[in-house]
Amino acid sequence: MSDADVYWHEHAVTRQEKETLNGNKGCVLWFTGLSASGKSTVANIVDQMLHKMGKHSFVLDGDNVRHGLNAGAAMLKEIHDEEFSKRFGLGFSAQDREENIRRVGAVAKLLTEAGLVALTAFISPYRIDRDRVRKLLPEGDFIEIFVDTPIEVCEQRDPKGLYKKARAGELKGFTGIDDPYEAPANPELVLEGGSKTPEQLAQEVIDCLKEKGKI
Ligand code: ADX
Repeated sequence: MSDADVYWHEHAVTRQEKETLNGNKGCVLWFTGLSASGKSTVANIVDQMLHKMGKHSFVLDGDNVRHGLNAGAAMLKEIHDEEFSKRFGLGFSAQDREENIRRVGAVAKLLTEAGLVALTAFISPYRIDRDRVRKLLPEGDFIEIFVDTPIEVCEQRDPKGLYKKARAGELKGFTGIDDPYEAPANPELVLEGGSKTPEQLAQEVIDCLKEKGKI
């Protein structure tokens, strides 16, 4: 059997019916930015605000997704075995980041079809990988949010001590230090992560969703 023999099954309950029940449109809020820029923090506050408004959303967070669907080799080796970990474990090479984003994009798309506001918080440093997800979704469903926090601020925060490690040469290929971050050319929204509070930024995201008629 080849994948040409795999068919798409129409859902018995349509996306539109789900959206009507949910009281919001499905879409992806794609947060991108450096490590410690505030992506997850803002995404989670937006999630909370939407919940309070009776809207339906779900956060896919890099650190968490990398514990399951996109787990690293070491974690998979522990749970399964060496062979399995070699085949499916994801690290931080350009190729692994590409696959990380591809999988997350596919999951986020499914969430939109369930009529959810999917919030994704991944560094997603390469423009080509983000643009591939954009193309996967119907026009207007991919809302790219650039969390534009200067690297000096991220490095000062350094909640996991990773910038320090990267500067010391103990962590190779760290985004912003010795691996590139390609800022979006045309994001739907830019958040000034270095100068405003997470609550202010979350409100800007809610305003954007309202403006676009998603909630
Ligand atoms: S992405 O580049 O593939 O989009 P993702 O958002 O899933 O990255 O994971 C980033 C998190 O992994 C960072 O916040 C940090 O905690 C951790 N991390 C470990 N190694 C690296 C690295 N080399 N570059 C960036 N982040 C890393």
